[in-house]
Amino acid sequence: MTTESRSAAIARLQSHHQQHKWSLRELFATDPDRAQRFSLEAAGLYLDYSKNHLGEDTLQLLLDCADQLGLPQAIADLLAGAEVNNTERRPALHTALRFQGKPQNEHERAVADCRTQMKRFSEEVHSGRWRGFSGEPIRHIVNIGIGGSDLGPRMAVEALYPWQREDISVHFVANVDGADLSDTLSRLPAEQTLFIVASKSFSTLETRQNALSARRWILDAGCREDQLEQHFVAVSSNIVAAQDFGIAPQNIFPMWDWVGGRYSLWSAIGLPIALACGFETYEALLAGAHTVDRHFAEAPLAENLPVLLALIHFWYRQCWDAGSQVVLPYAQRLTRFPAWLQQLDMESLGKGVNREGHALDYPSGSVIWGTEGSNGQHSFHQLLHQGTDLIPADFIAIKEPTSGLEEQHKWLLACCISQSQALLRGKTLAEARRELEDEGHTHREIHALAPHKVVPGNRPSNTLILQKLDPHNLGALLALYEHKVFVHGFLMDINPFDQWGVELGKQLGSRIFDAAQGALPEDWDGSTRGLVRMLLPDN
Ligand code: F6P
Repeated sequence: MTTESRSAAIARLQSHHQQHKWSLRELFATDPDRAQRFSLEAAGLYLDYSKNHLGEDTLQLLLDCADQLGLPQAIADLLAGAEVNNTERRPALHTALRFQGKPQNEHERAVADCRTQMKRFSEEVHSGRWRGFSGEPIRHIVNIGIGGSDLGPRMAVEALYPWQREDISVHFVANVDGADLSDTLSRLPAEQTLFIVASKSFSTLETRQNALSARRWILDAGCREDQLEQHFVAVSSNIVAAQDFGIAPQNIFPMWDWVGGRYSLWSAIGLPIALACGFETYEALLAGAHTVDRHFAEAPLAENLPVLLALIHFWYRQCWDAGSQVVLPYAQRLTRFPAWLQQLDMESLGKGVNREGHALDYPSGSVIWGTEGSNGQHSFHQLLHQGTDLIPADFIAIKEPTSGLEEQHKWLLACCISQSQALLRGKTLAEARRELEDEGHTHREIHALAPHKVVPGNRPSNTLILQKLDPHNLGALLALYEHKVFVHGFLMDINPFDQWGVELGKQLGSRIFDAAQGALPEDWDGSTRGLVRMLLPDN
């Protein structure tokens, strides 16, 4: 389908939007079975999407749009390894990283070999056979990486707290702010510490700087140059650069250009998960993601969880002017899920041109934000309830308690459900007035206060339920959002697998650092020149 007909499909959706009076209260009042009909269970995940501004006709329109644009073929192409990343001329085969059973092709064979290497290494470390420079076993792992080489494994290790081994602690350092590294190292015994330098490109500024400082730290602690290989391993597709840095060849875990950084937690970038929680835990995570891959490949569009989530997001983005979407995992251990999702969604969909390089005449990616519930209720939920923007919400609830505190878990779930109900119902002026009357306020007070107590409601949300937060379900949850982002990118005709905007920042960062050592180029703007003089005063 051409760009014009994509725009025409969006225009059809917009006119559908304008023709209806959208009231969530009314949709539920007139349709007692709505919650059942607009819910779906697959791959161990339950999605209630009934609290959305959708009728059957809306859904059909969205599904027709996806079908006419060729979504089924696009899904097949992605999974078959077609060159879906057209600007970098690569496939995006993160699904091959979680294949199950016997390897079927060269990608899967490479992955199988890498898994064997990871398993062997984890066993060496866990058994205490892998020793540091003084002969002591390794008890601390520090993962040095940023973006996709940090967010995924960091989030998963935290989410899987009950699976964490007691004999090893895993730390993450990402920021080029030296405080990140030095604060982490200040509490660690160098002789028991092993670093993973995780960088697909092995050229990322933050990671290189932190890795260099880590090397100095361990040498200062008494490690000899020829013992460094006992303290450094790397995960990278740039074997030459990793070796130049001084990583022993046998300590390099491969990455491949057919895996994007933000989709890489399933590769050896997931090594911290295997080290922190055991290799079987890492394998269970892969298996969970694979379940969703199968579902994504096989389910019809109308029963396909990632497709539905993407269509709903597309609907609000294109027709409701929703510039942001909030994600609210009601699970303390998923605190870092929104940060992981931010990179996945915003780095993938924050684009201004379509796959052919033509400027988009419709909005692309939106702001993804959020935090763990119930904490957010006492900070930003006020804006969700009474602010002027419509912000669709994804609630994530875990049925079984993640702690032994069952009563508190019930309260947590009650909070979660109450928030989506409040967003839906709101509070009318009449209800606000009645409430104030019941509290005994005077007529004058009621008149003054009631408008402040009105909550517009009619605000949409999804609720996603996991039976429990275990490695399998976590894998499924992450794969669900990965595929959702792919479908959303497809609907907007953008390449979700490149990130040229980030590259610009990387280029300019080095240029400024280098320029600060000498004369500043005349053609730089006055603000930049002034800031360099003020903050990098060597100049
Ligand atoms: O932030 C840009 C980015 O290229 C991400 O896509 C990637 O996850 C991150 O930098 C880290 O890159 P690398 O793994 O190559 O160090």
